[in-house]
Amino acid sequence: MLKNFQVAIDGPASAGKSTIAKILASHLKYVYVDTGAMYRTVTLAAKKSGVAYSDESGIVNLLSQIDIRFEPGIPTQRVYLNNQEVTEDIRSTEVTNNVSQVASYAAVRQNLVERQRQIANSSDIIMDGRDIGTTVLPHAQVKIFLIASVEERANRRYKENVAKGMTVDLVSLKKDIEARDYKDSHREISPLTQAKDAVLVDTTGLSIDDVVSKITKIIQNKQKQ
Ligand code: CDP
Ligand code: CDP
Repeated sequence: MLKNFQVAIDGPASAGKSTIAKILASHLKYVYVDTGAMYRTVTLAAKKSGVAYSDESGIVNLLSQIDIRFEPGIPTQRVYLNNQEVTEDIRSTEVTNNVSQVASYAAVRQNLVERQRQIANSSDIIMDGRDIGTTVLPHAQVKIFLIASVEERANRRYKENVAKGMTVDLVSLKKDIEARDYKDSHREISPLTQAKDAVLVDTTGLSIDDVVSKITKIIQNKQKQ
């Protein structure tokens, strides 16, 4: 029996995991952990150290020198790599297009999963990623598998990028999302899959508020049991 309450949210790229998880964490006063940001930070660390993304042992050797820290912030959590803020840098196109390769390395996953479990040990938690319900927190009381059509997910990312003033091309955005989903779902270790006991929530056509209230109900029902 777990002493804390754990909510695991998994799903493909741009399904709304982090948006929904952040809102739920703030409503429930739970700690939010963005595990994708951790894989992104390792990818950025490789770039900064001049280690090729294909150099598995080079990246594994870097792990002991990588400290990842989250700090609360508005509108988003701040991410620090060895005390240097990397909140924006880990969202660059280069990091986005290479993170799935770095995340496929067994030792990288083992190292980050250990860090994630340590954070989850002490508080009520909402964690989002690809393998939270299946691997990181297999005993989580609530597991959600969040999906949406690839067209809708690409459109959401497109709007987000346009709002940030970035020049983006919807067709390549969609292709990049599909390529990343493919890699994440087909890797050997902890691929993106719906846990047997996860609730599937299809957010196609749903607003953020709709999704938040749907998942809040699922959590409340579980808390009553
Ligand atoms: O937010 P977005 O959907 O773009 O991705 P993310 O959650 O920031 O995750 C970036 C990448 O990290 C994913 O495409 C996966 O390759 C990897 N990842 C993973 O392998 N396992 C996790 N638990 C979280 C992310
Ligand atoms: O974390 P993940 O990659 O799954 O997705 P996200 O970064 O939370 O969401 C991607 C974009 O979709 C954000 O701009 C959200 O505001 C938007 N979104 C939406 O329009 N409708 C939803 N129901 C959920 C997210």
